Amino acid sequence: MTQSGERRKILVIGGGGREHAIVWKLRQSPRLREVYCTPGNAGIARDAVVFPADFSNNFARLIDRAKNLRIDYTIVGPEVPLADGIVDAFTAASLQIFGPCQAAARLESSKAFAKEVMIAAGIPTAQSETFEEVAPALEYARSLGAPLVVKADGLAAGKGVVVAQTLAQAETAIRQNLEHYQFGESSARVVIEEFLAGEEASILAFTDGNVIVPMASAQDHKQLHDNDLGPNTGGMGAYSPAPIVTDDVMQEVRERVFLPLFEELQKRDIDYKGVIYAGLMLTTGGPKVLEFNCRFGDPETQAILPRLENDLVDIIEAVCEGTLHLHHLTWTPESSICVVMAAKGYPENPEKGAIIEGLEEVQANDRAVVFHSGTAEQGANIVVSGGRVLGVTAIGKNLPRAMDTVYKEVAKIHFDGVHFRRDIGRKALGRL
Ligand code: AMP
Ligand code: GLY
Repeated sequence: MTQSGERRKILVIGGGGREHAIVWKLRQSPRLREVYCTPGNAGIARDAVVFPADFSNNFARLIDRAKNLRIDYTIVGPEVPLADGIVDAFTAASLQIFGPCQAAARLESSKAFAKEVMIAAGIPTAQSETFEEVAPALEYARSLGAPLVVKADGLAAGKGVVVAQTLAQAETAIRQNLEHYQFGESSARVVIEEFLAGEEASILAFTDGNVIVPMASAQDHKQLHDNDLGPNTGGMGAYSPAPIVTDDVMQEVRERVFLPLFEELQKRDIDYKGVIYAGLMLTTGGPKVLEFNCRFGDPETQAILPRLENDLVDIIEAVCEGTLHLHHLTWTPESSICVVMAAKGYPENPEKGAIIEGLEEVQANDRAVVFHSGTAEQGANIVVSGGRVLGVTAIGKNLPRAMDTVYKEVAKIHFDGVHFRRDIGRKALGRL
């Protein structure tokens, strides 16, 4: 099948800001017949037909639903269903789905596997070893010295990585995993690695398994507080483009990361389609890979998709059909910034239930958009129902203009205990 120009029915799996941004972007396409989302959230429910997620019986119910609705393409947002084999299940049922198969998704669901692949492919990354026993892990940690990094092998909702400033902190993290199974099965092994200094950037790329097409760069802000202080979170904001990602960096990542990665996967007979995300540390010795994600990043996607000029239905279709080589991505030269508004107590113990006010005021503005993450409808109100609550994205002629707009819009929205960073984008200003 080639690009027919036919209108498509698309199902999006997930219910966060990333999925809202995907739905919002799909809705701009004249080729969209209908968009569905499961489980969605209060904001997505205004832009898509939502229904509760039911992943029981190995996705059998979801597959039935997709068949009954005559869905053309399903897009998987989060990592957990990918790690659980949703792509394999849909493919076995002859349904088209955007995302990597379970074997490929191990690049994200096992940090030890990702490291093994990187080493085999010669991809630049931090020096590391994987352990199942405390004693040798401690010995290796001592040989590296502090600071160093301890990572739970499996998925841990963004909480599995400890950047240890002292050996004592590293020891605690090692024991929390290997002795106390802090993240259940995900803690059965730890990857211990050298600390890399530098600035971080995310480079996401679409791939249909034949060609790799990088998206515009972005920079996430993982720490909870301004100036990168406080605990790691899923991401408190992002901007795109990231000026630190020059054309040279982009080229280097393509040649030294993406191409060898896909060569290595091919050697192992592992097919990959969907989005590959390289989390990078830009060190004085060049870009090094911190992690791979097998999906769109969140909040990066909330900053990246508003800059994409292509029709997203075309791109999703091309990835699923293996015709991505026919497409060239174009991006508005403007800048975008996404500021995440989080619930009181995030990330440890987010409090639910606060009423969100002021949303309509931002909806009136065409330079800004509010993507919902942890929101739910309660009577006539929209209330907080998760840790990251909203992502407010603004586009501007340049980064300072986008920053200006985004913070003006953020100021219009309020809920009890709201927390957001006031410095999203500031790091990049010094580079302009
Ligand atoms: P990851 O999930 O592996 O990307 O790790 C989460 C965060 O921990 C990264 O975004 C970095 O801020 C930090 N981190 C991970 N690995 C390293 C490393 N080797 N050196 C310094 N910081 C790291
Ligand atoms: N923003 C980081 C992630 O999506 O994992």
